[in-house]
Amino acid sequence: MQTIGVIGAGQMGSGIAQTVAQHGKKVLLADIDLATAEASLKKIDAALGKLVGRGKMEVADAEALLARIEPVGDYSPMAEADMIIEAATEKEPIKQAIFEKASEVLSQGAIMASNTSSIPITRMANFSPDPARFIGLHFFNPVPVMGLIEVIPGLATAKDVTDRTIAFAEGLGKEVVLSQDEPGFVVNRILLPMINEAVFVLGQSTASIEDIDKGCRLGLNHPMGPLQLADFVGLDTCLDIIKVLYKTTRDTKYRPAPLLVKYVEAGWLGRKTGRGFYDYSGEAPVATR
Ligand code: 3HC
Repeated sequence: MQTIGVIGAGQMGSGIAQTVAQHGKKVLLADIDLATAEASLKKIDAALGKLVGRGKMEVADAEALLARIEPVGDYSPMAEADMIIEAATEKEPIKQAIFEKASEVLSQGAIMASNTSSIPITRMANFSPDPARFIGLHFFNPVPVMGLIEVIPGLATAKDVTDRTIAFAEGLGKEVVLSQDEPGFVVNRILLPMINEAVFVLGQSTASIEDIDKGCRLGLNHPMGPLQLADFVGLDTCLDIIKVLYKTTRDTKYRPAPLLVKYVEAGWLGRKTGRGFYDYSGEAPVATR
């Protein structure tokens, strides 16, 4: 695979674009418009600048990587892509609209992949022209740093498509976990109930934000506590995923913590809005409760 289309240039899409380009492939990066895709390229440029500043990347390598990413204003250039990866918001109607539009340009033999965190692959495959060439490809944030990709074939996904997708993921220097198309796949099925439970613990005033996070950092050796991680992932995304788990299984153990719902209603979505369980407006994050 030499040319990869990435649709959605937010936190995940830009990380995917950076990683794919780092491994020598051409990336066509799209979002709602050209300006949004171009803004994402600027963020990637800034991230690479930091790596260069720390002596972790040569200037020439950063420039070459950046030159391999082309922001595009519509999907038509993706007709030359060997794979199109959707990395948009975790809302099914938005993804559906993207798949239907991308289907118009998807070339014969090319794979359509979704970076969904939890929405069923088998169902979304129906939004593509050929469910046999549709697959889940779930990256972890921050994509350039995290070593894992989950590969999720849907019921109709062809075996050779799964094999080519695994080879592509491994070619990005990642380890692969193969998951059946079950709600939350493997990692989010385990992670999101933990984050949700941490919000219940906070809501019941069992401990402070800082102590909940400290407990998991020091007691479990996690790099981030669950509330810090929720802010990092985005509280809206966390809520969307736990809602999918709840709706698809109807198991009340996945009911969203009321305080998580309130934070999202308040627009306190974590790092991206400057406030979640922590306030990010100062030098260092400060717990908000
Ligand atoms: N590109 C390349 N490298 C980068 C980078 C980027 N954009 N950003 C950071 N790095 C590198 C740094 O250079 C550094 O490299 P080094 O170890 O060789 O020096 C390394 O990554 C660590 O970066 P920092 O020193 O800036 O930061 P920390 O040491 O504090 O680590 C962290 C930050 C990696 C985010 C760590 O806190 C962590 O692992 N947190 C947990 C992340 C996690 O759980 N992610 C999964 C979320 S769930 C998910 O994504 C699924 C979704 O569906 C919800």
